[in-house]
Amino acid sequence: MKLKLKNVFLAYFLVSIAGLLYALVQLGQPCDCLPPLRAAAEQLRQKDLRISQLQADLRRPPPAPAQPPEPEALPTIYVVTPTYARLVQKAELVRLSQTLSLVPRLHWLLVEDAEGPTPLVSGLLAASGLLFTHLVVLTPKAQRLREGEPGWVRPRGVEQRNRALDWLRSGGGAVGGEKDPPPPGTRGVVYFADDDNTYSRELFEEMRWTRGVSVWPVGLVGGLRFEGPRVQDGRVVGFHTAWEPNRPFPVDMAGFAVALPLLLAKPNARFDATAPRGHLESSLLSHLVDPKDLEPRAANCTRVLVWHTRTEKPKMKQEEQLQRQGRGSDPAVEV
Ligand SMILES: *[C@@H]1O[C@H](CO)[C@@H](O)[C@H](O)[C@H]1NC(C)=O
Repeated sequence: MKLKLKNVFLAYFLVSIAGLLYALVQLGQPCDCLPPLRAAAEQLRQKDLRISQLQADLRRPPPAPAQPPEPEALPTIYVVTPTYARLVQKAELVRLSQTLSLVPRLHWLLVEDAEGPTPLVSGLLAASGLLFTHLVVLTPKAQRLREGEPGWVRPRGVEQRNRALDWLRSGGGAVGGEKDPPPPGTRGVVYFADDDNTYSRELFEEMRWTRGVSVWPVGLVGGLRFEGPRVQDGRVVGFHTAWEPNRPFPVDMAGFAVALPLLLAKPNARFDATAPRGHLESSLLSHLVDPKDLEPRAANCTRVLVWHTRTEKPKMKQEEQLQRQGRGSDPAVEV
């Protein structure tokens, strides 16, 4: 454009000079000079016009960059979160729901481990502004963690995650929010996001276009800075983990997502509550994918976008003391 404009100015200049010279030459000559002068003036006028057109073109802002796709065109991310009542439950769910609010085209499947929907969770979902489905299933007594047992003895959230899979496959049973499962042919991806982890909003865009099963590293897990797939030439060739590396899929629950059509095509794929310790993820994934076909995300699994954070259990010594004196914190205040 710059070069062209220069040429136009040059042409303008030359034509002006030519016109001037011609006028000078014609000066004092016997006069049939009017028509040529008129022609030169007309030519100049045309050039002027062209120049102002080009200047207007230059002032016009450059065309807007390609718009990101409309939200309707994006595959939906179904985020499955098991949750159970405890002191920090609301804090965890507020934090997670506000992270999820940053993600377009997301549907939260919140599954309570309870006999029925609790006011705390129902209220939180209603206030969240998210598209959600509220589900409830109580973990059978035999599977429940006993008092004092360390958390890793029994896998937690198994019934709840399976309940969400049931809803995705056939619907029914929702106690709040969207009741109908995704219509056939819905493009989407399913991610199992516990309520205590920390998620970067970038993670969700990494998983959105999953074709089968996508994977990425998880920070602060397995006694390591991070655990995750090892990738060579864009393919998963192994796993960086310190613990039982021979598990079929040594990945954390937060380290993979599954395409919805794949989950629907494999109705037997679910979590096995009787799976040995650390094999829960494998119990689902072995129905779905060959380890070599895992799709590495997060820059070939070199970026950590989710962290296995643990919230400390709050100490309630003073609360208990005050309660004994009948002066405990007002139970009507939801915490
Ligand atoms: C992942 O690795 C493959 C093969 O080396 C390469 O072509 C691709 O660009 C890499 N992707 C990213 C996001 O770094």
